[in-house]
Amino acid sequence: MTDGLGRTIDYVRISVTDRCNLRCAYCMPEEGVPCIPHSQILRFEEILRICRILARNGIRKVKLTGGEPLVRRGILDLTAALKAVPGIENVTITTNGVLLEELYDGLADAGIDAITVSLDTLDPKLYQAITRRDEADRVRRGLEQAIQKGRVPLKINCVPLMDAERQGLLEVVELARAQKVHVRFIEMMPIGLGAGFPLLREEELRGFLESRLGPLTPCADVPGNGPCRYFAVEGFQGRLGFISAVSHRFCETCNRIRLTSDGYLKTCLQYDCGAALKPVLEAGGTDEELEARIRQALADKPKGHEFGKAAPFAGREEKGMSQIGG
Ligand code: GTP
Ligand code: 5AD
Ligand code: SF4
Repeated sequence: MTDGLGRTIDYVRISVTDRCNLRCAYCMPEEGVPCIPHSQILRFEEILRICRILARNGIRKVKLTGGEPLVRRGILDLTAALKAVPGIENVTITTNGVLLEELYDGLADAGIDAITVSLDTLDPKLYQAITRRDEADRVRRGLEQAIQKGRVPLKINCVPLMDAERQGLLEVVELARAQKVHVRFIEMMPIGLGAGFPLLREEELRGFLESRLGPLTPCADVPGNGPCRYFAVEGFQGRLGFISAVSHRFCETCNRIRLTSDGYLKTCLQYDCGAALKPVLEAGGTDEELEARIRQALADKPKGHEFGKAAPFAGREEKGMSQIGG
């Protein structure tokens, strides 16, 4: 599948729920956001039907996201069913890790191809301050299990938050030293509440890391779907990565679309454009109708984000990350 600008689209990020068991300050307000009613959430059969159509049109890779994808009941069955969709070669998940301890083996048994755990700090106090939940120990146990069992490739996503906490980032980096875990730093994007947080630019962070760890050497040996650029560090088994949507815009090579939990096929992270598929499903629409909507949405996929624009602009996404799926 190519979009209107000739970019090959082979990756769909599926948000299976907008609910979450954490309240990260840059993503959700303390009191939470009103949840999408269950009746509006895509049922698994609906997700699978859309995926079969997407796969017939060239989608090869699926990322399960949320909210927190592991809070959706039946997520292991969905994972296994997605793996069985003809044409789908790769199913991965990005989770906050709170339920990883319980579900790790289930995910591996279901055939998940990789797991990414979002972890901004290993310090329990700071973890509590960022996520407003006391789950640091559970996440650490989940991670330890994932590392020790080693059944599935593992990555860490870290959104650096406070300038003063650079020392803490080194602790997260250490996860990549003794084992093949890749630690990726993500620049805070001005989406939803993220807009109110300072940005630690890749250049600055890379400089700091090099001053402590020695040279970071570019490498291209980590499999993945996304725009992460990886670096090797001497003495490290895992790689360090940077996902820098703000300072290294990667829209020109965008390969992805999103399916929100209420059935909206979203063609760009920062625009509210795409195709509402749930109403077509509810009206008893055919696969051909769904496919036509998808193709039209792809033809109109925006050129790229406008993170630099402070003022609202036409079509700007007003939803938060927990509803978009990151
Ligand atoms: P893998 O590395 O293969 O797991 O893929 P990935 O990098 O797409 O996965 P992940 O879900 O870990 O996303 C990493 C970060 O990239 C998150 O902060 C996402 O919000 C961000 N991201 C994902 N898609 C886009 C996009 O289309 N545009 C921008 N600007 N950021 C994105
Ligand atoms: N900017 C960058 N990354 C974000 N995430 C959530 N909100 C933002 C933001 N505003 C990250 C989460 C998770 C991934 C899916 O997106 O930490 O790792
Ligand atoms: Fe939940 Fe992820 Fe948002 Fe944190 S960033 S509140 S883990 S959806």
